[in-house]
Amino acid sequence: MSKNIVLAVTGGIAAYKSAILVRRLKDYGFDIRVVMTTGAQAFITPLTFQALSANPVHTTLLDPDAEAGMGHIELARWADLVLVAPASCDVMAKLAQGLADDLLSTLYLATKAPVWIAPAMNQHMWSAKATQRNLETLTADGVHVMMPDAGSQACGDVGRGRMPEPEVLAEQVFAYFQQKQRDLAKKVGILAGQRVVITAGPTREAIDPVRYISNHSTGKMGFALATACYAAGAEVTLIAGPVSLATPFGVKRHNVTSATEMLTHSLACIDAGCDVFIATAAVADYKVAEVATQKIKKSGDTLAIHLLKNPDIVATVAEHTRRPFMVGFAAETQHVEDYAHKKMIAKKLDMIACNDVSRSDIGFASDHNAMVVFFAQQYAMSAQTLPRATKFQIAEKLVESISVALTQLKHHRA
Ligand code: PMT
Repeated sequence: MSKNIVLAVTGGIAAYKSAILVRRLKDYGFDIRVVMTTGAQAFITPLTFQALSANPVHTTLLDPDAEAGMGHIELARWADLVLVAPASCDVMAKLAQGLADDLLSTLYLATKAPVWIAPAMNQHMWSAKATQRNLETLTADGVHVMMPDAGSQACGDVGRGRMPEPEVLAEQVFAYFQQKQRDLAKKVGILAGQRVVITAGPTREAIDPVRYISNHSTGKMGFALATACYAAGAEVTLIAGPVSLATPFGVKRHNVTSATEMLTHSLACIDAGCDVFIATAAVADYKVAEVATQKIKKSGDTLAIHLLKNPDIVATVAEHTRRPFMVGFAAETQHVEDYAHKKMIAKKLDMIACNDVSRSDIGFASDHNAMVVFFAQQYAMSAQTLPRATKFQIAEKLVESISVALTQLKHHRA
């Protein structure tokens, strides 16, 4: 995430954790500038932070070089968030009183960015009345406090005052910016107010307790779409077959195994309210007629398994009385566009995105895809080519196309 963070490190043994914090924040894509108090430099060197942040470290208020480049006012303006971690008892007192005699305290007064503090100190210092008074003042002034953990302390005490682990702090900062982006997308995103349901991944049809029929889908395409729809302001529900992907931020998820389960969840989502249904799942077309209750033992040279047609999920949803805007996918190995176009008509879809799954550089399991998208007759555009790109880029393009088609549909109905 391209946001600027000023990390202010103050004097305390937890300062060593801040070095790891820089790494974790950079993992999320943040640009970091470190400000160190004199106390902090007694615990860890500016060189460490310079190497980790890949930026110069700021240590003094009146540094002619820094003032020409990035002094306290520039830093205050540059920051999207100021994070004081660890925040010592002394610095909390200083900020609460509004003193302005060093780089951090002047930066604090000058910045319009949100300020977060992660206090770390001896448990008695933390619970001291003066510290708690300062904490109240800072909270009332709008400072966000990342509360210290309880546990064994460097001084030998056991109690509250430990700085939370860097991973936890970094994740909270990331979640904050994601939520801000989300709030904005909910207001102005191209899918703001839309309830989107996405099927993703393969389905598995049991043969016996240890075997099943399935395919190579990993869910990557569907999960990328869930991320893109959410980023565009939609409320997103994923109905995921057996895949090993983490749930995208903010997305609701139902895990299913078979096509029948996927259909049940899809219909429940339609009943609950759905505006756009996107079927990226590679649903098994057939299921085993009679699933063996025990493992089938090896006997003759051949084994015949009787298969029955599975319900067609996307076609069933398209026939629903509360039919949403329908987006299908088509996975083909030959006559890709022709077969896909026919599927769109047969399944009564608004749009279909087709990919050639005989290619190893796109389609199943790849991080990339390339698609041709067809639109039903009532839309102004008939086809769109999406050249090879990452599945996230393809997903963003598909979201744009869905939004355009939804607008046309609205005008059409008006
Ligand atoms: O998951 P990945 O590894 O990222 O791979 C992505 C993908 C290749 C799976 C994806 O891009 C894709 O092509 N998904 C559609 C797979 C598929 O099953 O296509 P199909 O042509 O067999 O089915 C056509 C449409 O009908 C699809 O929207 C499918 O979800 C739907 N269908 C099919 C059968 C069935 N019983 N019910 C359905 O709803």
